[in-house]
Amino acid sequence: MPVRYMGTKRYLAADVRAAIESVQPAGPVVDLFSGIGAVASALSPDHHVITNDALSFTTVLARARFGPGRRSEAADLLPRICARYRERENELRAAYGTELAAESAALKGSWEKLARFMLEHPHVGTDADTMSLAKSHAGSETSDRYSLTTLYFAAGYFSVRQAIQIDSLRCAIDQEAIRKADWDWMTASWLSSTASVMNAPGHTAQYLRVSGDLSQTRVRRAWSRDIWNVFVDRVAALVQEGTPDWRAGNVACSFDALDFISSDALKGAGVVYADPPYTKDHYSRYYHVYETLYRYDYPASVGAGRYRDDRFVTDFSVKSRVEEAFEALASGVKSRGLPLVLSYPDNGLLVLAGVNLFGLLASKFDSVVLRSHAHSHSTLGAAGGKQKKKAVENIYVCS
Ligand SMILES: C[S@@+](CC[C@H](N)C(=O)[O-])C[C@H]1O[C@@H](n2cnc3c(N)ncnc32)[C@H](O)[C@@H]1O
Repeated sequence: MPVRYMGTKRYLAADVRAAIESVQPAGPVVDLFSGIGAVASALSPDHHVITNDALSFTTVLARARFGPGRRSEAADLLPRICARYRERENELRAAYGTELAAESAALKGSWEKLARFMLEHPHVGTDADTMSLAKSHAGSETSDRYSLTTLYFAAGYFSVRQAIQIDSLRCAIDQEAIRKADWDWMTASWLSSTASVMNAPGHTAQYLRVSGDLSQTRVRRAWSRDIWNVFVDRVAALVQEGTPDWRAGNVACSFDALDFISSDALKGAGVVYADPPYTKDHYSRYYHVYETLYRYDYPASVGAGRYRDDRFVTDFSVKSRVEEAFEALASGVKSRGLPLVLSYPDNGLLVLAGVNLFGLLASKFDSVVLRSHAHSHSTLGAAGGKQKKKAVENIYVCS
């Protein structure tokens, strides 16, 4: 998987596929909350997929793996990207020489020194000068534009040195990967590389801080990794899945699910598969770094976590509104004359809100068949909880 993801249905994908096939869809499968695409991948190469997720960075991962278009040879593309990457890296190293020297000294010193460096390093969430620099770079038409990671996420999620590398690589990709399929491939590999070097516990709600010798060792290890080598590995790993015919019929979208099901995008679809969030944790908080890196849009940023201020929030993750969200989902799909396949655990937020999901679905659809599977959810430690939680995952087939 290009990025570790909370709530991925990788372990359940074959069962979801069987449930989808049980309704004999007469058109593409809409994967309405597609995340990083575990179900879309399992539908290859027999069922076209329309993936959708409110987080837009997921679309580039989907296009790179499931989308149409011919890629260039990596052997032709990578040397050009590497040359441009080194040029931009040299420019940024010169511009941030003082910060790089301070970081190098902090990494060689005590854990207290490194902790102080992380705390005091200016970034857009806390420093007005850095924010105004970000504003001027955002509108730049020169390579100055490629400074976002350094201004937003350095000395936290990444070292200053890595942030410079990440910006330089994005600059090289935007300028050298001209063909659409190449840009998607390279940008997805770039995002996947940032995931693998990030100083964070799997999700990106917060970076790991230093509070002693052990955490100093962890941060030093994470910050010492070089982006280019990881990137080259990711480029090789990120293959186009299925067949050219299959990929030609797939589409990747990014909309609110409830808007999506009432839109024209649903025309011709055969079935809707829904895997909504099932806790009060908003994904936009846990994956905000990827979202900002992908969009590269210099958003207003708040607090030590450096969150974008326009983070997407959904009623599916709000206990007092989750019932309404499910009502709208079920009625919306029913009104389009489509079957709905829904996966939801027995300890999901809707259930905790006291709602009988089977009853809710049965009040809209003529037939609801329930298939249950025991398994462990990956939480990646969200909300300070365990890495995995045991639950029964229910698949509701509604037609
Ligand atoms: C349980 S995860 C889906 C995991 C996915 N099936 C997979 O295997 O990777 C729920 C997803 O819903 C997305 N999401 C949350 N609220 C949404 C909404 N209102 N509209 C669209 N997507 C939403 C989240 O960003 C997250 O990726």
